[in-house]
Amino acid sequence: MVQATPLLLVLFLALGAHGLAVKKCSLTGRWVNDLGSNMTITTVNANGVFAGSYHTAVTATSNEIKLSPLQGSMQKSPNQKGQPTFGFTVNWSFSDSITVFTGQCFVDEYGKEVLKTMWLLRSCVENIKNDWKATRVGTNVFTRLQSQE
Ligand code: BTN
Repeated sequence: MVQATPLLLVLFLALGAHGLAVKKCSLTGRWVNDLGSNMTITTVNANGVFAGSYHTAVTATSNEIKLSPLQGSMQKSPNQKGQPTFGFTVNWSFSDSITVFTGQCFVDEYGKEVLKTMWLLRSCVENIKNDWKATRVGTNVFTRLQSQE
């Protein structure tokens, strides 16, 4: 027992240090994507429900771009290990379109947080015959704005 104690102590410290080293991905803060769009997630509550704002760099319309609200939800299940899945909707203030994003918040090999997402942009069309061309699909990668780190 006397010899086992230092061994257990080393094991305990090693496990503890490992636990501390595992960085978790947090959605809160300011993000920029590969198109240059900016997103701010202001609040994530205990149930994983969040809100924020989105300033897109591009538009499928000829309208003037305006800051738009977003609402979303992230997984809070106990078995997810600090890299949660999430989804959010942007209700565009300057067009009659809606975009839904789904993705996962990762910590990459350099310890940098990255949001890998896919989106569907639903535009409003004149009539049901035009439904076939109403939805665009794509991907966006978001990184945290440097000033936030
Ligand atoms: C519209 O054009 O009606 C609204 C703006 C849509 C912007 C899209 S949403 C998916 C993609 N990612 C962005 O950051 N912007 C575009």
